Amino acid sequence: MTDADKFLYGDRSGINDPLAQADWASKKLVWIPSEKQGYEAGSLKEEKGDECVVELFVYFFNPLFFFLTDREDQSILCTGESGAGKTENTKKVIQYLAHVASSSKFKKDQGELEKQLLQANPILEAFGNAKTVKNDNSSRFGKFIRINFDVNGYIVGANIETYLLEKSRAIRQAKEERAFHIFYYMLTGAGDKMRSDLCLEDYSKYRFLSNGKVTIPGQTDKELFVETMEAFNIMSIPEEEINGLLKVISAVLQLGNMVFKKERNSDQASMPDDTAAQKVCHLLGINVTDFTRAILSPRIKVGRDYVQKAQTQEQAEFAVEALAKASYERMFRWLVMRINKALDKTKRQGASFIGILDIAGFEIFELNSFEQLCINYTNEKLQQLFNHTMFILEQEEYQREGIEWSFIDFGLDLQPCIDLIEKPNGPPGVLALLDEECWFPKATDKTFVEKLAQEQGTNPKFVKPKKLKDDADFCIIHYAGKVDYKANEWLMKNMDPLNECVATLLNQSTDKFIGDLWRDVDRIVGLDKVAGMADSGPFKTRKGMFRTVGQLYKEQLGNLMTTLRNTNPNFVRCIIPNHEKKAGKLDAHLVLDQLSCNGVLEGIRICRQGFPNRIVFQEFRQRYEILTPNAIPKGFMDGKQACVLMIKALELDPNLYRIGQSKVFFRAGVLAHLEEERDLKITDVIMSFQAWCRGYVARKAFAKRQQQLTAMKVIQRNCAAYLKLRNWKWWRLFTKVKPLLQVSRQEEEMLAKEEELLKVKEKQIQVEEQLKEFEAKQQQLSAEKQALQEQLHAETELCAEAEEMRARLAARKQELEEILHDMESRLEEEEERAEASDGESHHRRQTEENGGRHHSAGRPE
Ligand SMILES: Nc1ncnc2c1ncn2[C@@H]1O[C@H](COP(=O)(O)OP(=O)(O)O)[C@@H](O)[C@H]1O
Ligand SMILES: [Mg+2]
Repeated sequence: MTDADKFLYGDRSGINDPLAQADWASKKLVWIPSEKQGYEAGSLKEEKGDECVVELFVYFFNPLFFFLTDREDQSILCTGESGAGKTENTKKVIQYLAHVASSSKFKKDQGELEKQLLQANPILEAFGNAKTVKNDNSSRFGKFIRINFDVNGYIVGANIETYLLEKSRAIRQAKEERAFHIFYYMLTGAGDKMRSDLCLEDYSKYRFLSNGKVTIPGQTDKELFVETMEAFNIMSIPEEEINGLLKVISAVLQLGNMVFKKERNSDQASMPDDTAAQKVCHLLGINVTDFTRAILSPRIKVGRDYVQKAQTQEQAEFAVEALAKASYERMFRWLVMRINKALDKTKRQGASFIGILDIAGFEIFELNSFEQLCINYTNEKLQQLFNHTMFILEQEEYQREGIEWSFIDFGLDLQPCIDLIEKPNGPPGVLALLDEECWFPKATDKTFVEKLAQEQGTNPKFVKPKKLKDDADFCIIHYAGKVDYKANEWLMKNMDPLNECVATLLNQSTDKFIGDLWRDVDRIVGLDKVAGMADSGPFKTRKGMFRTVGQLYKEQLGNLMTTLRNTNPNFVRCIIPNHEKKAGKLDAHLVLDQLSCNGVLEGIRICRQGFPNRIVFQEFRQRYEILTPNAIPKGFMDGKQACVLMIKALELDPNLYRIGQSKVFFRAGVLAHLEEERDLKITDVIMSFQAWCRGYVARKAFAKRQQQLTAMKVIQRNCAAYLKLRNWKWWRLFTKVKPLLQVSRQEEEMLAKEEELLKVKEKQIQVEEQLKEFEAKQQQLSAEKQALQEQLHAETELCAEAEEMRARLAARKQELEEILHDMESRLEEEEERAEASDGESHHRRQTEENGGRHHSAGRPE
């Protein structure tokens, strides 16, 4: 069986199966040849790999492409709820950029900068990520990574900015959650020497690790500790600094172990056991007595004097926790600063940048606190940017393409809600009111809520909780839905107070690293100020210096938004499929919730009003001409004209498309429909082609069979004849004689050949003779030619000589002529002179003669 036959007579049991047939018909599949089964069902559509990375890269290729061609700054905004994959995608983007835009591309491996850029992530994750119920590696901070490129599109540096670290995680964790990874890495990974240097203890000994040792499936803290240390190495962060960082972490843990008691006969706190305090002081390089005093009875300024004010047990505990949180936060900020220092290669000038934002997305919990307000506020602003870009850019494109379109202003939809949060006055927004309340004496969270209700009560985006006993204090209607807020401890969170005395001690620490961390102690709000809210008058802190958490955040966010607005933003919406960390499961409600939260539904709404799909004329014609076979006449035709004809032939509803200057615009779904029709058409083409091929193969096979049939008949006939003749004597004689007949003829042939040979030989001799003759002639001629050449040569030489002689003679003649000329002119001169002298002598003679005569005449004779 030949190859072609294999496909013609393949095993067709699979094809004849009615189920497969039905499937085939419904999906408009094409049967394609297969080695094993003869045929199997295939599809026109390409099978896509399920790796998210591939799709992301394809998606991401665009910004990079625009970036490299237009040199416009780009930003990529990854948002989504916790565990949706923001961080993973951010990492992929960075990996991709480090790969394609590495300046040491030709050296094959990555350059130092690219390596450091990739290593920044593990470090940040070790210190800023933690296990939560939703995500085993949840980032507890937002970040904006800015990668700078030079004019050639190579990476020249990077900068990381972080937002809102959830520092309270360092001291308390919900059930089944962990504190920041680094605590566990350090406690498992540290060697004996490090353990004793850092005064490390067992998990169970630390009160701040609420859940003790919690492990993450598929992750070894010990290995990750080594990896983190390696990352530090690549980042070229020196040993002392790493030690400093770890010391702070150990100290934070130790702070949790300081236990306070209420004294028996007063409210004062005391510390019966100061082992933990000693360890803290050892680690932080401060004096233990000073430290204990600063915690138990700090010096407080009252009027102009300092007094020692004893603290209650709660106050002391609060101070220690605040200290732990502040230490951790300062350490983290220092770390980011240090990484930036390593990544900032100012030697090479950056021309443009790509920024990647990985920040928590909108989420609605049952009750939401201050942090959530900040996150929702951020998302409100990001969403506004999204709307703004989508619609401004979109509508600008419509204008550019000359499409009739009444301008719709979607962009300001979110402004009322943003105003409600951030407006400084008239009426003041949530953040402004909160700040204001912080400066008031006797203010509490409750008075804040009352004030808020009073100022913003009429705002349509603000809702007072319905029931009196409702848990929520107030609600804000965000674009994604109504969110209940509980204003517990907001004043405290906004001021973020600290024990000033301890801060001053730390500022003067003998450990240089610790001293550095606490350089700016005059910017903090003292605990006494907050405690004072209840009993003393309004505190006059260095108001100019101090800024509340809300203020700082608002400012930081403002800067971020300015940066983003100056770039071309690209939005990556991450969706978490389920909350069980399970592969392949999609919870429809959950997904829908997220889609409404991240504004994708809004986006779809807007897409439906506009013309989201567009395609340039050339491409449109190339791709869909197959659908309108005879619409376009042969020969050259302008792209726009061709498209108009094609669309006419397609009989589309005029509302579904617009034709611009260079592109055709379609409403959502139209292009998909065209694409489907195109698939069907191509399927038809393929099927008729297949039918033709199979027909050809079948016809060929048929012709072959027919020939075989004829051949069979001939063979049969011959066999029958042979059987008949086999025993006939004459025939046998004939068969014997026949070979001999051939021999006699052979001799004749031989003779003929010999004769021929003779003739040829004669001819050859003749030709050879001729050749000799010619050769002799040629020799003779060439000798003659030689002689002639020599003669010619001689003649030429002679001629040259003669010529030379002639020239010489001519020169001589010239010379002589000149002499002659000279002579002639001299002769003439001489003659003239001679003449002149002749005349003169004659004249003189005459005058002499005349004079004599006169003379004689004058005299009387
Ligand atoms: N594209 C993806 N494909 C498969 N798993 C993913 C993908 N993105 C994220 N994950 C999984 O989800 C977890 C959470 O992702 P992460 O990026 O940390 O979420 P987020 O930063 O949004 O909180 C990751 O640890 C990983 O296990
Ligand atoms: Mg994350």
